[in-house]
Amino acid sequence: MTTRLIIGGTVVNATHTSLSDVLIDGEKIVGVVSPDSEIVQTALRGDIDIIDASGKYVIPGGVDAHVHLQLPMTPQATSSDSFESGTQAAAWGGTTTVIDFAGQIKGTAIPEALESRLAEASGQCAIDYSLHLSIGDVNKQSLIDIAGLVDDGITSYKLFMAYPDAWYSDDGQILQVMQLAAESGAMTMMHAENGIAIDVLRDQAAERGNLGSVWHGRTRPPELEGEATHRAIQLAIVAGAPLYIVHLSSTNALREVARARDEGRNVFAETCPQYLYLSLEEHLDQPGIDGVRHICSPPLRSSADGNQDNLWMGLRTDDLSVVATDHCPFCDAEKLLGVDDFRETPNGLGVIEHRMDLLFQGVRNNEISLQRWVEICSTTPARLFGLQGRKGIITSGADADIVIYNPDTEHVLGASSHHMDVDHSVWEGMAVKGQAESVLSRGNFVIRNREFVGNAGHGKFLKRAIPEPLR
Ligand code: URP
Ligand code: ZN
Ligand code: ZN
Repeated sequence: MTTRLIIGGTVVNATHTSLSDVLIDGEKIVGVVSPDSEIVQTALRGDIDIIDASGKYVIPGGVDAHVHLQLPMTPQATSSDSFESGTQAAAWGGTTTVIDFAGQIKGTAIPEALESRLAEASGQCAIDYSLHLSIGDVNKQSLIDIAGLVDDGITSYKLFMAYPDAWYSDDGQILQVMQLAAESGAMTMMHAENGIAIDVLRDQAAERGNLGSVWHGRTRPPELEGEATHRAIQLAIVAGAPLYIVHLSSTNALREVARARDEGRNVFAETCPQYLYLSLEEHLDQPGIDGVRHICSPPLRSSADGNQDNLWMGLRTDDLSVVATDHCPFCDAEKLLGVDDFRETPNGLGVIEHRMDLLFQGVRNNEISLQRWVEICSTTPARLFGLQGRKGIITSGADADIVIYNPDTEHVLGASSHHMDVDHSVWEGMAVKGQAESVLSRGNFVIRNREFVGNAGHGKFLKRAIPEPLR
């Protein structure tokens, strides 16, 4: 077992920042101690790997609670990052845990969906990973199957109020899953957009010949995200279950979450970097490939009403608890399938590598504090999805998932330098300051001084505990 000591850095946890050294034994952190402590002096005299982090932040590895690697979105389009390339790209950006999804398509059984997704990921990942269950077919048997999943370490389910032809659940189905979650302690995650109303708007737009990419946004108005978020919250209250709204994009939805939290409800929400930085006017409303590259659901929102500022504020007030990526990239060939009809475009974009850096710009711009950065990118997602104590924290006993983050490195995001397996970048040309310099996963280097030294088999499947949803 290798013993390592990280010296000279500033250790940043969600609750505390200190000039401390971090002692690692094998896969675990065994001490976060003062540089002049006896433990450090003894360690320095032994056979030990010393990592100098002077002038750098020493932070818990990022936890990305929402990614879609090699997801067959349509018969023609599978998201372009595999478990291998996507987890490597995540590591390059300072993320050491990802949670993807096993998807139960309508007419299929949950155990098979889970088994095949586990087989796809096994032996491929450079960092630790886990799976939520996406439920596409709530019926008698799937309710029985879901109840048993907690013992397999699957303690969260995603339901959809959107996508009526594929993943949609009606309110009764949603309520039944939430009632099960209330009993088991599992977390219900919700894609909250009113898909029935959206489909009417889409058909009307198509009949009028409005098929450019901006119509993807115009037919999914923020009111229909707000409405669905409100409905999901009421159903969760009736069921007595905690609720987690995924990829929240609009002020309308944020207001609903804020009201519920003000009432003391166990309602949580994540937003994603694309909603904090990209907009309908500037990015989605472009002709040709430039527009369709920016199609994701919920859509990029208009910046006219201060939407991005409101989301940053939500991160400060804790009405938004988490930033995940919803990473789901498609290469131009797949995006071009919808260049003449936005409805044919596979939804999603690539961001897994840049989440930590993009949110660190929020620290630099005084939108969020350094500790809040760690909290929303790492500590809270770990806690809400049953990884508390293991991930998202630098403390004795936790997994040694640690990033040495250099706050002074300047770099420019783009397709020629990123490690995501996608042939363009929606972040092309964006200059940022701050970069993960070295990344450890369970005590092993995955990135050392900006060199990839990991391997595909290192990442382990994480069986997750019951989440800790109390506010
Ligand atoms: O556009 C998106 N978000 N693609 C991924 C699927 C989803 O709904 O999360
Ligand atoms: Zn979704
Ligand atoms: Zn998603």
